[in-house]
Amino acid sequence: MAYETIIVEIEDHVALVKLNRPDALNALNAQLLTELADAMGAAQKNDKVRCIVLTGSEKAFAAGADIKMMSEKSFTEVFTEDLFGPETAEISRVRKPIIAAVSGYALGGGCELAMLCDFIIASDTAKFGQPEVNLGVMAGIGGTQRLTRAIGKAKAMDMNLTGRFMDAEEAERAGLVSRIVPAKKLMEEAMAAAAKIAEKSMISVMAIKESVNRSFEVPLQEGLLFERRLFHSTFATEDQKEGMAAFVEKRTPQFRDR
Ligand code: CAA
Repeated sequence: MAYETIIVEIEDHVALVKLNRPDALNALNAQLLTELADAMGAAQKNDKVRCIVLTGSEKAFAAGADIKMMSEKSFTEVFTEDLFGPETAEISRVRKPIIAAVSGYALGGGCELAMLCDFIIASDTAKFGQPEVNLGVMAGIGGTQRLTRAIGKAKAMDMNLTGRFMDAEEAERAGLVSRIVPAKKLMEEAMAAAAKIAEKSMISVMAIKESVNRSFEVPLQEGLLFERRLFHSTFATEDQKEGMAAFVEKRTPQFRDR
């Protein structure tokens, strides 16, 4: 598929996916979401790719779902087409890690898209918010669900009910972002984090992603059992033998994803 609203570059083992609707601050319209889901699926299938970085522009990661696209839609239309459902489900099925590198606005669907990723590295200019309430609607891609799990009820209610923005420092304190870096260093840091992940065994990496995500779905004892059984299963891999032998022999492991 040829893309018009995103740019995909593969650098070594990292797929860099850049949202590219600068005139609309990367607002998520149907075309962008279709292209993004396609690019994520392609990165999942591409054996060369071991980690994905999703980013926007310096001014905006994404300023939300495209309000102009949505403004004339009826209930029947959005319900029947399951607006935002299929594409976001496809992105959440990607088993390789996805890092969101967020600079500027990450609002509404933009904040939700960042939360669909596995962790968020924010520039010191990042601003997060769920301002859908100002439009007479509400969040629809996880702003009341993933955000609540990330930052707790008090702040999630505050963000969703008032529509206020959270700066990078507050977002880091609240647990929404994993680290803050100066705006100029954002891409360097995000790509370095991705390269570090790309060095690991893909079996460990995918199992970790699956296990952390499982913690949101199941009670603690079930999650702990799931984790322990996955941990046990890593002992069936060559990479476990290699990783532990390399530690004992004081050398760098050479993982082969086996
Ligand atoms: N949808 C469509 N177009 C958008 C947009 C959006 N979400 N956000 C910005 N744009 C467009 C503007 O309309 C403008 O285009 P024109 O020049 O053609 O008028 C262009 O991007 C630049 O925007 P501004 O002139 O508004 O830039 P600014 O710097 O003055 O303000 C902003 C930036 C505070 C982010 C402001 O654009 C804004 O408030 N945007 C909307 C944010 C929002 O409400 N997001 C939630 C959307 S609903 C949603 O996401 C639902 C969901 O959960 C699934």
